[in-house]
Order: sequence, then structure tokens, then C-alpha cells
Amino acid sequence: MLDLHCHILPGIDDGAKNLEVSLELLAEEKKQGIQAITFTPHFHPNRIELDEFLAARQHSYNKLMEAPGVSDLGIKFKIGAEIFFSTKLNELDLDQLCYTDTNYVLIELPTDEKPYGLTHTLIDIINRGYQPILAHVERYPYFTSDPTRLYDLIEKGCIAQINSGAILEGNKIVMKYIKWGMAQLISSDAHNMKKRKPNLKDAYALVKRKFGEDYVDWFEKNARDVFKGRYVDMPDPKRPKKILGMWL
Ligand SMILES: [Fe+2]
Repeated sequence: MLDLHCHILPGIDDGAKNLEVSLELLAEEKKQGIQAITFTPHFHPNRIELDEFLAARQHSYNKLMEAPGVSDLGIKFKIGAEIFFSTKLNELDLDQLCYTDTNYVLIELPTDEKPYGLTHTLIDIINRGYQPILAHVERYPYFTSDPTRLYDLIEKGCIAQINSGAILEGNKIVMKYIKWGMAQLISSDAHNMKKRKPNLKDAYALVKRKFGEDYVDWFEKNARDVFKGRYVDMPDPKRPKKILGMWL
């Protein structure tokens, strides 16, 4: 298993507050059977300059890599970022924000209103050669109230990521996304050992029970392809239909 969205780097965002917590999170990832991780600290283009963020991220990454025992875990590491959506992304060089040696960029959207310029900014990013991964797509009311909005973005080339915690909570829309083929990646989005800890193993076990082993194999293959920078071969999702007030 691979975890491609987590906040394990120490002292850089609202995730691991120090090295001690980072090491606890990494030990838990190992216990969960995780073989590769992409660290994705929050980057907010309207709040911090790109160079400043990159320097802070490198410092935090070096600190974790130099900590005793980390290189013995047998986990492969890459770095990326969870980029907060802004139309400013059209002007920003995203190369250094991609998952290491890939063209994948993890993008988080606002949780209140559908942001202005969402579709055209994402299309621009795709046209520039990047592949957007939309973070935790179960969180956005403008997708959950009308999942065809997410469907249309997946059709345009976006990848949809769901959180393992939402699967374990039995989040209804997450289950529907999986059924419709509208989620391609499962990640932990782990922040700490209390409320948001690494839990991919249990989430995959639940997906296996509810949907079958083929789904688990497919999610794992997608994660491997993204980590290695390969194209994710996605079957066409099913376009959700509203029948008697219910999305089916
Ligand atoms: Fe996150």
C-alpha cells in the first residue's frame, strides 16, 4: 500500500507538530503496511511565497530524513504539496509542487462555495502538462449536492482522491463515488495520532468487504502508477443520475 496524501513532515502545517509526532506517524504507517509515502504539506499560494514554502518544506524533510531509524523503515519517500486552489495557480510554476519526478499535483478546494474559475483553472493546469489530483472530494458541498460537477472534472482529466477516514466513517457519498468509479485514489490525509491517524489498512479492508478485491487491486494499482509518475488508466466513470431526489 502507498499513502499519497498526508501531513507527516514536522512543524510545517497543521499536521505533525514536531519530529516526535512525525516519527509516531511513520511508525503507524509502517504498522499499516505502507511501503511508499508522498508527503503533502499544505501550500496556500495567497498566504506564502512559493520560494519560502519550498525552503520550509526542504528543511522539514531533511530533518525527518536525518532522524534516527527513518532510513531503516524500508519505506520509499517522495515530496509534494497539498495546494489550496486559487486562480493564481495559472501564473505559478508548479514543477516543484508536483510529487517528486512526476507531473501529479494535489489540489485542495474550498469547503464552502464552488470557487470562481475552478474548471478553467484546472483545464489550464492540464494543458500545461500537469495532472491534478483533487484532494478529499467527499468534503465539498458543491460536489456532494451535484456529483455531476465532479464527474465533469474527472472526464476532463482530473483524478479524484478520497480519505480513508471517510470510508471508515461510512460516509455515504464516498461509497457512491466508489460505486460510480468516481474515486481513483484512497489516501490517509493523516495529521496526528489522535483524530486523524494513518488508517489505510482498515479502509482497504472495508472496501474489500463492500466492493470486492478487484476494487482494492485497482486502487492500489492507481496509487503505484501515480507514485511512479505513470499514466493512470481509468475506466470511464458512471455519470450520476438524480432520480426522485436521490443521486443514483
Ligand atoms: Fe490534507
